[in-house]
Amino acid sequence: MTHPLWWQTGVIYQIYPRSFQDSNGDGVGDLPGILARLDYMVSLGVDAVWLSPIFPSPMADFGYDIADYTGIHPLFGTMADFDRLLAEAHARGLKVILDLVPNHTSDQHPWFQESRASRDNPKRDWYFWRDPAPDGGPPNNWLSFFGGPAWTYDEATGQYYLHQFVKEQPELNYRNPAVLQAMLDAMRFWLDRGVDGFRVDVIWLMAKDPLFRDEPPNPDYQPGEPGINSLIHLYTQDLPEVHDLIRAMRGVLNEYDERMMVGEIYLPYDRLVGYYGTNMDECHLPFNFQLILSQWNATAIRTLINSYEAALPATGWPNWVLGNHDQSRIATRVGRDQARVATMMLLTLRGTPTCYYGDELGMLDVDIPYEKMQDPSGLNQPGVVGASRDPERTPMQWDASPNAGFCPPAVEPWLPLADDYPTVNVAAQAQDVRSMLSLFRQLTALRRAMPAFSVGGYASVDAGNPQVVAYERQAGAERYLVALNFSAEAQAVVLDTEAAQAEVVLSTHLDRLGVEPLTNLQLRANEGVILRL
Ligand code: GLC
Repeated sequence: MTHPLWWQTGVIYQIYPRSFQDSNGDGVGDLPGILARLDYMVSLGVDAVWLSPIFPSPMADFGYDIADYTGIHPLFGTMADFDRLLAEAHARGLKVILDLVPNHTSDQHPWFQESRASRDNPKRDWYFWRDPAPDGGPPNNWLSFFGGPAWTYDEATGQYYLHQFVKEQPELNYRNPAVLQAMLDAMRFWLDRGVDGFRVDVIWLMAKDPLFRDEPPNPDYQPGEPGINSLIHLYTQDLPEVHDLIRAMRGVLNEYDERMMVGEIYLPYDRLVGYYGTNMDECHLPFNFQLILSQWNATAIRTLINSYEAALPATGWPNWVLGNHDQSRIATRVGRDQARVATMMLLTLRGTPTCYYGDELGMLDVDIPYEKMQDPSGLNQPGVVGASRDPERTPMQWDASPNAGFCPPAVEPWLPLADDYPTVNVAAQAQDVRSMLSLFRQLTALRRAMPAFSVGGYASVDAGNPQVVAYERQAGAERYLVALNFSAEAQAVVLDTEAAQAEVVLSTHLDRLGVEPLTNLQLRANEGVILRL
């Protein structure tokens, strides 16, 4: 590596725009709202902001169904608002990452409108159209992530079209080279405006089996799980051809300075690392979601960190994620006390951390009754636990005023707020030197000040206690030890090091500094500490 780049040293903060800050009193967040909160992001010590989709969309999947790749949805503001947000973010040293959704469009996109108009329309094969099976049913057994078949019959032309999400999200056919060119043009549109990169939606699904073969059943499928898990996705996921598409996208990014892409890919490490590209010519960062998917205990996490480190290609830059807009929040998954340990780990492991808005406060999933449910994944799969993603998408908790400062008191926010917002909010935690927010800020400050954490080496350390994950980060003469207690009981750490003692730089409890013996380091329940060696 010549010099570290912003997406390597920086911390990425994900905003779900509908839920961050409403500025015009419609109960939905918007771009001027985000603009008004840029100083908050600076105060968090993050370096880049990823915005979930802000483009024109009928909102069948809350913006992941795009009707125009080069516009701004009026709900979020105007192109002038976007340009202002970008300029103001840049003025504060913040990068802006947009969400690119190349796998599918909205059914209202003009491309699909043309495609469905007739069988001989020039855009017909921009999408996947197939004749019905002999019995009149779908052409094969492929399934939608949101329940039911991945095919919908179109009366007008007597064929089925493919959609692995809702039926309003028809999938683009990248075997037609014009489709790829159109998507690369959309990328250039935003790069020319100054956007710093893209998070690329479901990038590992972009290629499909040309023979449209049935997928085999998954023998491990348990009833009650989402239906999509009942098949093994040999013919819809991680196909070799997807790498050609990603290389073409990377080529566009390479036409510009220091732009990046982070790909959404849910795959085990041996397959995930292929998305860096054989010649490091694909994703700058293939999202590493294993901390979201893993069992939460020291043994499992230690194993996964070490297997990730081992699987990474020599020049592949690591990254870590604890949550996003599709997954139950970390504080709900592991509890608020343990979430502090998770946050210390996220911000001290080797690689780029991505933080989901509100996790810096320990925001919890919010139970949304079926009548208030918005997410099509939940609405289409009643009874499937965790199918709805509304719980992790609730409004940001800014202060104790009615509606938490997210929208005006008299307005109903698009999703209900958490009941705990009068105490769990930015304003309250900013005043509390031991809050989760204070911990987050201290961790980002430490990361910024000490190259050991941003660009330093990583080495696993035996803590002499199975409940503790420990590792060293080091750059030049700077060496730090991180010791994380994954249990809700006190644990003793016995380190086999030359140094007898070391200085505590930070505890997740934010209440201790000073020198501690390394041969008998006492960690309290759910405590993580950073020591300078
Ligand atoms: C990705 C997004 C998710 C969306 C889906 C379809 O998984 O993160 O929110 O529903 O793609 O675009």
